[in-house]
Amino acid sequence: MSHHKRPGSGANALADLAEYERIFLPDPLGTRRQNRLWRCAGYSDERLRPSFRETAGLRRGHADPLPLDQVFMTLEGATILITGSNRGLGRTLVGAGLEVGAKKIYAAARCSADVANDDPRIVPIELDVCDPASIERARATCGDVDILINNAASLANASTYRAKALAPARTEMETNFWGLVGMCRAFAPVLEGREGSAIVNILSMGALAGIPFCGSYCASKAAAWSFTQALRLELAASGTAVVAVFPGPIATEMARPHEREGRWPAEEVARAIYEGLARGDPHIFPDPVAQSVAASYAADPWGLPTRFAGSID
Ligand SMILES: NC(=O)c1ccc[n+]([C@@H]2O[C@H](COP(=O)([O-])OP(=O)(O)OC[C@H]3O[C@@H](n4cnc5c(N)ncnc54)[C@H](OP(=O)(O)O)[C@@H]3O)[C@@H](O)[C@H]2O)c1
Repeated sequence: MSHHKRPGSGANALADLAEYERIFLPDPLGTRRQNRLWRCAGYSDERLRPSFRETAGLRRGHADPLPLDQVFMTLEGATILITGSNRGLGRTLVGAGLEVGAKKIYAAARCSADVANDDPRIVPIELDVCDPASIERARATCGDVDILINNAASLANASTYRAKALAPARTEMETNFWGLVGMCRAFAPVLEGREGSAIVNILSMGALAGIPFCGSYCASKAAAWSFTQALRLELAASGTAVVAVFPGPIATEMARPHEREGRWPAEEVARAIYEGLARGDPHIFPDPVAQSVAASYAADPWGLPTRFAGSID
């Protein structure tokens, strides 16, 4: 283990962390798949590939379409399942998924009638991630999924400590943690061995440190983050990449109470998520607030709760 480089601190900490992961997980995406993806990206010769450090360094400020020489995996022809796709980020991820070339998108929602269905590539399905029978029906229907995006979530937006009832906090844990776990358990065997397969868990920067007045939401996302890290290691040999996304405030219904603090357009967040996936980023910080929080976290993880005590920006 002595040759394993440990994550450093400061500006290069994120790149170091990514490189450490690459060493610790020598082949997180599976050699066969990586080779195919590199070929898709136009790299026939291993020596021509950009170094992982260079690739990791590209994770900041990526509003423009990704140039071909930065593409790590192609989403062209993929079949994607997105939970909570009737509104908010999930709905936007459906549209953006078609733009990046998905062949089929299972747009899952508690009420499938709410799902946009204006394109034959969109297949609405009924799915409540808190209902094991509903998850099982989805698994039985969607046996050709390449990429699972666990997006559905609940936010009580109240102080867990002061709340009169804990039911909303329990719903957060049921949805954001157990719902995500249930989906991963059901679909990991479906994804196993599929070239280019991935599980993308939409977490939150609140997974990295507690934010006042949504402590139970942050706890549910931190639990999901911890599970995501373990799952990544467990699935490393199966060829399924496990990707964590840490958004900042997004302009959706969920963050409406924080409207005045500034929120990032869901379209740009969705695009950044697909770009991060295409780049092979294990951790995606899809907006400027998230990127700034990531830099703070990399420089001083213990200082992040203090930053959240004031403004998240
Ligand atoms: N908005 C933000 O500022 C922000 C910041 C960081 C992270 N995120 C994360 O980004 C993701 C998308 O959030 P959003 O902003 O789009 O939130 P949103 O607008 O509130 O949408 C939440 C979605 O999750 C669905 N959902 C909730 N419980 C469900 C269940 N049991 N089964 C299936 N679907 C369920 C909702 O469906 P219904 O319509 O049926 O309720 C809705 O489609 C979430 O994981 C969220 O935690 C958001």
